[in-house]
Amino acid sequence: MSKIEIKNFNSYYGEFHAIKDINMNIEKNEVTAFIGPSGCGKSTLLKSLNRMNDLVLSFKKDGNIYLDGKEIFDETDVYDLRKKVGMVFQKPNPFPMSIYDNIAYGPRTHGIKDKRTLDEIVEKSLKQGAIWNEVKDNLKKSALALSGGQQQRICIARAMAVEPEVILLDEPTSALDPISTAKIEDLLEIIKKEYTIVMVTHNMQQATRVSDKTGFFLLGELVEFDTTEKLFSFPTDKRTEDYITGRFG
Ligand SMILES: Nc1ncnc2c1ncn2[C@@H]1O[C@H](COP(=O)(O)OP(=O)(O)O)[C@@H](O)[C@H]1O
Ligand SMILES: [Mg+2]
Repeated sequence: MSKIEIKNFNSYYGEFHAIKDINMNIEKNEVTAFIGPSGCGKSTLLKSLNRMNDLVLSFKKDGNIYLDGKEIFDETDVYDLRKKVGMVFQKPNPFPMSIYDNIAYGPRTHGIKDKRTLDEIVEKSLKQGAIWNEVKDNLKKSALALSGGQQQRICIARAMAVEPEVILLDEPTSALDPISTAKIEDLLEIIKKEYTIVMVTHNMQQATRVSDKTGFFLLGELVEFDTTEKLFSFPTDKRTEDYITGRFG
């Protein structure tokens, strides 16, 4: 069984058919990348994986998404789903509070109050976020005072602090400089050993650098899904080939 199984999944914003009959399996301890031109449905599908679209009134879906074999839309506890499936957005969005409180926020909402336990979680998460060394002497400093690249690593650490099983990243480095981008790419390589990672990127080099599997989307369809190596060296669909060779997009 795959970690996530997407079966005949369609979604709509009102009358608009945004995601068309997607079938896709996402494996544990791999990085799966979604690529494709703007507006092709990458974020819509990504957000469906932890039901972020539930908040959009016009959103409708049919088909199924299974996490460890359990249908996520049947599960009434969205809160529990989002604890298992965390998300990091394109624009770093630390909370307007200290670095420490950003990381402790999730664990606290899950009822952890013991100071020593929280200290341990904060340290472990910041280490996993590859930012501990840069902030360990300033944990009381506002997270908003950090650089964009540091803020994004704080957001990754914050996502990891509640020990999710899956981490969704929507173009996590598109607002960052090359050095911060490289730090985050290195970090993904390390954390995939413990997590399942799904990442939207419109940077194809990034997909080849960090992902094991890549799905190419076009106009709401999954055109091709394969190992990253195969998809970028021997695409089977002409549209994939045109896209990865830069003919459009
Ligand atoms: N909340 C929304 N309401 C209506 N249409 C939306 C909404 N979000 C996205 N869309 C539309 O759905 C399509 C796919 O969007 P999106 O998933 O954001 O694409 P991508 O991430 O690939 O750029 C686009 O045509 C977009 O305009
Ligand atoms: Mg998007």
